[in-house]
Amino acid sequence: MATLQTAERRIPVIEIDAVTTVLGRAVIHRGLSLDVMSGEVLAIIGGSGSGKTTLLRLMLGLQRPAAGTVSIFGHQLGNCEAADLAQVRNRWGVLFQQGALFSALTVFDNIALPLRELKDIPKRLMSELVLLKLSQVGLSPADALKKPAELSGGMIKRVALARALILDPVLLFLDEPTAGLDPASSKRFVRLIEDLRSEMSLTVVMVTHDVDTLFALADRVAVLADRRLVGIGPLSEVAKQPQPFIQEFFLGHASQCNDDYIQSYRSSLRQGSMAAPAAADSK
Ligand SMILES: Nc1ncnc2c1ncn2[C@@H]1O[C@H](COP(=O)(O)OP(=O)(O)OP(=O)(O)O)[C@@H](O)[C@H]1O
Ligand SMILES: [Mg+2]
Repeated sequence: MATLQTAERRIPVIEIDAVTTVLGRAVIHRGLSLDVMSGEVLAIIGGSGSGKTTLLRLMLGLQRPAAGTVSIFGHQLGNCEAADLAQVRNRWGVLFQQGALFSALTVFDNIALPLRELKDIPKRLMSELVLLKLSQVGLSPADALKKPAELSGGMIKRVALARALILDPVLLFLDEPTAGLDPASSKRFVRLIEDLRSEMSLTVVMVTHDVDTLFALADRVAVLADRRLVGIGPLSEVAKQPQPFIQEFFLGHASQCNDDYIQSYRSSLRQGSMAAPAAADSK
């Protein structure tokens, strides 16, 4: 399983050290430490309001910790040169919890946005890159002219994913990637993420509350509760812990939380991955 290989490599891409986060008067995280290793898919779970999105925002430098440090690719956020930070930013892509497409822009312009910010990209190259990403996420060139209001939920996720991948990042952040999708679209989207992850050798940090998404993708699971990390490790180990949130989260899935089930679940997903992914997501 990928878990063992990535654990052996042990190169931290993200290092969160003793972070305390305060929003308004509320302490969201207290003394939280967490490393994300190169090549792994780390899933973050926790109750609503437990601080998962805030943890991603810390990793993206959109939120500053009140204490502690966050480093990405060896650069400490909040303490590095602007040029270094810009370089670091170009090495990650983000799929935000709400999709965050601009409703007034076409699919093409939404995906091209990060390229335009880099400037000096010839128009023709930009078109080629956008069309390449569209096809990578299973959409057709005709979809490029549509506005977000003309897309299904699954297509919106694919466009947002194409935008997150347009700069060919090595690190991908996904906040609730399958939320709001029906079970079949959710499965197709998960398969797409897995295909792209292996094609592009991505490290992935993913927030999810969906157990099937965890089974399909997660190498390790980190559990947020009571302002701290109450568990971290392979799903089969974390799911056994007696902590109340963990027990509630995996309730009804106890017999599936083992490596054999997860292996067979993943190989059944892979067998389906040869099918045209977006056909049923069209609108
Ligand atoms: N800008 C803000 N100012 C004050 N409090 C905030 C702010 N943003 C978030 N919070 C609070 O911080 C806590 C953590 O929010 P966060 O969005 O990180 O939770 P979450 O785990 O992602 O939840 P969900 O599963 O619902 O997405 C919540 O109690 C929220 O109300
Ligand atoms: Mg959230």
